[in-house]
Amino acid sequence: MSETPSAAGSAARDPRYADTERALGTARVAYRTVGSTEAERASLAWWDADSDTYLDEHGDFLGDADFVWCPEGVREQQARLLGPPDTLAGADVLEIGCGSAPCARWLAAQGATAVALDLSAGMLRHARAAERRTGLTPALVQANAEALPLRDDTFDVACSSFGALMFVPSLETVFSEVARVLRPGGTWVFSVTHPMRWIFPDDPGPTGLTAVEPYFDRTPYVEQDETGTATYVEYHRTLGDYVRALTSTGFRLLDLVEPEWPEGHTRVWGQWSPLRGKLFPGTAIFRTERTS
Ligand SMILES: C[S@@+](CC[C@H](N)C(=O)[O-])C[C@H]1O[C@@H](n2cnc3c(N)ncnc32)[C@H](O)[C@@H]1O
Repeated sequence: MSETPSAAGSAARDPRYADTERALGTARVAYRTVGSTEAERASLAWWDADSDTYLDEHGDFLGDADFVWCPEGVREQQARLLGPPDTLAGADVLEIGCGSAPCARWLAAQGATAVALDLSAGMLRHARAAERRTGLTPALVQANAEALPLRDDTFDVACSSFGALMFVPSLETVFSEVARVLRPGGTWVFSVTHPMRWIFPDDPGPTGLTAVEPYFDRTPYVEQDETGTATYVEYHRTLGDYVRALTSTGFRLLDLVEPEWPEGHTRVWGQWSPLRGKLFPGTAIFRTERTS
């Protein structure tokens, strides 16, 4: 039941991922523990293989230089979750799990010095193409969010729009890295699939309205090939898990935003749909700051 905006629908069930799954030899779904090395290998393979499909399907919604937080269409231009408009001009900003980096280009257009980081060379290839289209050139870094190749106390703001956090085994590892590279008092804002979505089938229609999985089951969702090697991994956490990981790594929670489905917004993104969005949240956005 993979539920990221990009990979919604299990491999076996969602025809949109047929090409990617064929390329990776995906054969079945499992629920099991996956460590950091296997997760990194699977995510690298998945996002490289899926990057063209992802941008074909979602590129127009994401824009070339726009900061979209979630399928509900919350945009930083209006929401200002990173701080008041004058926060960004001249600020050092890190985006984690940037994909093709539309958010980082929007940040650059606001006058920020933006660094956009992603594991996938396939995604960063799309970022380069968009740089040529827009003339906006945030620094691009290919790395795992669990080990940021960046100096301590370098950034005023860090952000992530559905990037990396659901694909790593330890939130604490990533949050500790973010705390390390942020300056004291720095802002860390990220969006993820709302944890309550894990309990429902990964379906935008009526089938997706009946709870079938325990909210409290943290066993990772894994797609794997015939040899049992993971080809896609997603980690399930509760809201409390996020809060505890934040407070134990030096962050103060300022707000938890649960965007409501906007009136007149008809676009379906994977399992995110008007039908489900009107009944329960699909996205959680955590606004935090480094405590010291
Ligand atoms: C759902 S996409 C979101 C991309 C982009 N933020 C957007 O809104 O389109 C998730 C992104 O996280 C990246 N990612 C997955 N695991 C990662 C990791 N361990 N470290 C860094 N990036 C990772 C993927 O390569 C992918 O680009």
